[in-house]
Amino acid sequence: MNEQKSRRRLRSQAWFGGQDKDAFIHRSWMKNNGLPDDAFDGRPVIGICNTFSELTPCNAHLRELAAKVKAGVLEAGGLPLEFPAFSCGESNLRPTAMLFRNLASIDVEETIRANPIDGVVLLAGCDKTTPALVMGAASCDLPAIVVSGGPMLNGRYQGRAIGSGTDVWKFSEDVRGGKMSMQDFMNAESGMSRSAGHCMTMGTASTMACVAEALGLTLPGNAAYPAVDARRARLAQLSGRRIVGMVEEDLRPSKVLTRQAFENAIRVVGAIGGSTNAVVHLLAIAGRIGVPLSLADWDRLGRDVPTLVDLMPAGRFLMEEFCYAGGLPALMTRIADLLQLDALTVSGLALGQAIAGAEVLDAEVIRERDKPLTPQGGIAVLRGNLAPNGAVLKPSAATPELLTHTGRAVVFADIDDFKRRVDDPALDIDEHCIMVLQNCGPRGYPGMAEVGNMALPRKLLEKGVRDMVRISDARMSGTAFGTVVLHVAPEAAAGGPLALVRDGDLITLDVPARRLHLEVDEAELERRRADWMPPRRKLRGGYETLYVERVEQADRGADLDFLVGCRGHEVPRESH
Ligand code: FES
Repeated sequence: MNEQKSRRRLRSQAWFGGQDKDAFIHRSWMKNNGLPDDAFDGRPVIGICNTFSELTPCNAHLRELAAKVKAGVLEAGGLPLEFPAFSCGESNLRPTAMLFRNLASIDVEETIRANPIDGVVLLAGCDKTTPALVMGAASCDLPAIVVSGGPMLNGRYQGRAIGSGTDVWKFSEDVRGGKMSMQDFMNAESGMSRSAGHCMTMGTASTMACVAEALGLTLPGNAAYPAVDARRARLAQLSGRRIVGMVEEDLRPSKVLTRQAFENAIRVVGAIGGSTNAVVHLLAIAGRIGVPLSLADWDRLGRDVPTLVDLMPAGRFLMEEFCYAGGLPALMTRIADLLQLDALTVSGLALGQAIAGAEVLDAEVIRERDKPLTPQGGIAVLRGNLAPNGAVLKPSAATPELLTHTGRAVVFADIDDFKRRVDDPALDIDEHCIMVLQNCGPRGYPGMAEVGNMALPRKLLEKGVRDMVRISDARMSGTAFGTVVLHVAPEAAAGGPLALVRDGDLITLDVPARRLHLEVDEAELERRRADWMPPRRKLRGGYETLYVERVEQADRGADLDFLVGCRGHEVPRESH
């Protein structure tokens, strides 16, 4: 049956076909899984790349979804084989999960290439797992489909919905500002994460699930179904069926991840009010598949996209409501004129066909075009003498009055310095100041941690201040909010101008003009540059050293330089 369906000899047959010693070895050992002879008859071998881990709670339910994928693969006549991938979970990994995104992508790429796999289903959920898996698969370019784990059900506390991350930051500031008791803070903990799934705000995990769908890498509707919704299990099974068809059609990432697809994803990020982290991840994915993409594309394509999805952190609702309102297909119908609808998706349909028939079911959650949450969504890309290669800010999460602001810099040399001094009553700071954090970029932290949304000084919180301009080379959680300039490039640890800022310098932020300027004359900056010394930090060796030595700057996606590009799936040599 399968020989008839597959019109070409599949890659896996280089392992399992034939009658020599090598084929004996490959088949015989696989048979200890209980596989019958006809498992190796030329049917598509489908890898199920699973980021399940109990240490990554957002992905801890993925074995159940993998079972549904397997059922779908078997129904379509394929052979499903599940394998683990490094699970870089956001909530536990130190110093930051981002340090390990590239490592996980290496794991995925090499595992796919080295094994008898014809196509792969990528099971991801938590923030970094989605880009890591897509990056690895893109560098191999074998047929690949993404199945997301899905968001948690809404958090609930004291009769109201609470959002992952977003309300943690709020509660924490309320405790520090004396507006919430420690007991209430502890009580909120259990109500926030009350089902399987990833963060249910429009944080990075939800954003990247939407990005995967907008790129055409998933079946329609993948992004929004809650993890525990039966429709997600159904989608997993259908994805298992579909990947077998994709292998037969040789529908590879390079046919889906086109320039059109990336442009669609950037526009969707604007319309959903998505996380700034999507910027670095999308740049890195584009680098792997060889599509030119830059920060300028983010600003140009996202600038006129209104944010229509009214979800936290910028808005009111959570992913459950987004699902009930029609999810991403419905949102994409609202901005169809901004999308390239003939972009191919893994369903085999053009994007326009894939979303045809989708309807917005709740205009409070997915707003009308003339009633946006923010008229100009998207990610603002700032440049100036403080960020020659760019920096980003999410206007929809910022305080409108602070988007044009000049203030006195209060500088923290690194995250330890910040933690030591931020609550010092003697710290010379007021609400008009601009907080500057250095040495938290890709090389500096290392790993470009989500510390850019620095907590405000306690003494200002107690006065009722809730936002200030903050600037750093770090990232920020997609669940966070505030007037926060991020991803300053080059970073301080690489000798970027951010390293030259001193207490008392004036800085001008002008988001409408996309400008970030340090009001210090060039001669003085030159003097400071001559005195600058790279921060002294002892590397412990191993992967951390490799990362620091080879990581690219944020404006290029913070990938390791030698991982950029597609290396294909050929492996010319046998193992024995
Ligand atoms: Fe995993 Fe938010 S911590 S998705």
